[in-house]
Amino acid sequence: MYVYLNGEYIRHEDAVIHVEDRGFNFADSLYEVTRIYNGRPFGLKRHLRRMERGAERLQMDYGVSAEEFTEITDELIRMNETPEASLYIQVSRGVAPRDHPFPEEAEPTVLVMVKPHQPVPWDQRLEGKTAITTPDLRYQLCGIKTTALLPNVLACQQARSQGAFEAILVRNGMVTEGSNTNIYIVDDGTIRTFPLVNILPGITRSYVQEICQHAGIPFQEEAFSVQTMLQADEVFLTGSVAEIFPVTKIDGQDITEGSGPITRQLIERYAGAVKSRCGKYTPDR
Ligand code: PDD
Repeated sequence: MYVYLNGEYIRHEDAVIHVEDRGFNFADSLYEVTRIYNGRPFGLKRHLRRMERGAERLQMDYGVSAEEFTEITDELIRMNETPEASLYIQVSRGVAPRDHPFPEEAEPTVLVMVKPHQPVPWDQRLEGKTAITTPDLRYQLCGIKTTALLPNVLACQQARSQGAFEAILVRNGMVTEGSNTNIYIVDDGTIRTFPLVNILPGITRSYVQEICQHAGIPFQEEAFSVQTMLQADEVFLTGSVAEIFPVTKIDGQDITEGSGPITRQLIERYAGAVKSRCGKYTPDR
C-alpha cells in the first residue's frame, strides 16, 4: 500500500513521523475520515471544509488546498487499487523543538492514507449494534476534529471490553454523542440529536439532516437525557465509516429488535445518497 506523506507517495511501511512532530507531542493536529465507494470519496468537500474551519480556529496553515487533497486521494485510490476503502487525512502543525507555544517556523505534516474497507452486509446492518453509556470526560474543543482523542479511546475501549460496540457519552445528564459517532433518538416519528454545541459536527449528521428535510421527517436539535433515550422508540448512530446503525441495546436494556422503521428508512435513503454521488453503493440489495 502507498500513502502520501509531505509531498511524496511512499510505501506504507516507509512512512515515518518525526519524534518532535507536534501532532505526536501535543495532538496539535487535525484529521478527517471518510468512505470511498466505487473509487469515489463520499462527502470529501464537506470533510475538507470542516478541516479548514478547524485550522482557522487553531491558526494552522497546512498549505494543501481542497483541490490538491482531492487529486492526492484520487492518485492513492489508483495506486492502491482500492475502490471500496476508507480515507484518512491528518495534518499537524509540523516539526519543531518541543515547546508549548506555536513555533515561529515549522513545515506542516500532511498525511493521506486509503485503506481497503469491507462493506457491512445489509442484514448485519439492520441487526444493529449495542452500546453503553459513560461520562463525557472531554474538554471544550469537541467541535474541532483534532487527534486529542484519549477520552474517546478510553470510552470506546470500555464499550468493547463490555461486549458493546459504542460508548454513548453523557454530559450533565444529557447524551452528547458517541465516542466516534453521533447519536439520535426517534420518538413518535421525530428525530432528536444534541445541538452543535461542543460536539463534533458530523458530516453524516449533516446528510441525515438533509435527508430528513427531503423526506419530511421532523429533525430536532435538542438535548435528551439517558432516561429519555432508554425509553425511545428507536436509537441510531451515524459516522462516515459506520454509516447508520440502529442501536438495539443500551446498558443491557433492549431498545428495538433490529432496526426500527425510521432508522431503516434513513439507512436506505443514505445508501441512495451514496449511490447518486458515487455511482454505486455496496452492498446493493
Ligand atoms: N469519527 N462524533 C465523534 C466524536 C467522531 O469522532 C465522529 C467521527 C463522529 C461522526 O462524524 P462523521 O459523520 O463526520 O464521520 C461523531 C471518525 C470516523 C473517527 O474518528 O474515526
